Amino acid sequence: MIHRVKARAFANIALSKYWGKASGTENRPATPSISIALAGLVTETVVAKNTKNSDSFTLNGRRPQKHEVQRMRDFLDLWRKRGLIRGHYRVSTDNDFPTASGLASSSSGFAALAMALSGISEKNLSVAELSRLARMGSGSAARSIVGGVARMPVSKNPDAQEIVSADDIDWGMVIVEVEAPEKSISSREGMQLCAETSPYYKEWLKQAKLDYRALESAIIRRDLEEVGKLTEANAMAMHACMVASRPSLLYFNDVSLRVIQEVIRWRKKGLQVYFTMDAGPHLALLSKTSNLKKIANRAAKIKGVFSAQPSLPGGPAVILEKS
Ligand code: DP6
Repeated sequence: MIHRVKARAFANIALSKYWGKASGTENRPATPSISIALAGLVTETVVAKNTKNSDSFTLNGRRPQKHEVQRMRDFLDLWRKRGLIRGHYRVSTDNDFPTASGLASSSSGFAALAMALSGISEKNLSVAELSRLARMGSGSAARSIVGGVARMPVSKNPDAQEIVSADDIDWGMVIVEVEAPEKSISSREGMQLCAETSPYYKEWLKQAKLDYRALESAIIRRDLEEVGKLTEANAMAMHACMVASRPSLLYFNDVSLRVIQEVIRWRKKGLQVYFTMDAGPHLALLSKTSNLKKIANRAAKIKGVFSAQPSLPGGPAVILEKS
């Protein structure tokens, strides 16, 4: 019997965003999405059998916040209910990047946890089943199971599939962390507010599907210019929908806007770089891997930027140790 498993997953950044949930309890997305996993954003999770009759959790060496504990406990309950694991576990997670700041930590967090639990489970789970399970923890986590450039369609019970592997693409991202004193509203709460109150929500759902299709074909053609344009336009459409929520859901701050303006300026001068932004003020800048260092150096000099880290594309979630 397996008692302890260590797994690793890379966080991913969506080029075409999942924003909004379909009805039901299985955390199904209302929009299809495409992402790129990043080798520079790593989560490692250890799951070990607990002799006590309850689960326990640590996140970066500390006890996580109440709502984080609840989400992870619910996730373990789901695995128990489905007969995939038995008993209770100690879960210890380490992110090598800021947690819960719109930097996609739930994507790698739930993917690493699902991967580790699959190592504990005596059932043989396919990648598709594992991706669906990860999705039930956090929608974006489904894509981190497969890694590379991955898509997740909308369907009754979607899983993510790889479009292009990490080795097969010469694009990467620079993660630009901006100074942000205030805590952002979580994606989960944000999506609900947006769906319930934004007058543009229905339009967003339509646009998201169009962007997804166009982006998928641009990726297959390896057309970075088209991919970049669609990535920016899709993020801006999502943010327009968010901003129109009542009360407004404004994830940008002054530094985010400054970075965006700089990116547009660099591009006008011939540097091929594109931005995207999730449910937090930080940015991810897409470019050819050969440009990443130069972009990171420039971004780091922008007033209010805390760090700028180049990252190559990352592969699928994996089990690192089993005993
Ligand atoms: C803006 O996957 O964090 O990053 O399913 O509620 O956990 P839950 O949401 P989550 O949402 C990600 C939102 C996004 C866009 C994306 O990654 O596609």
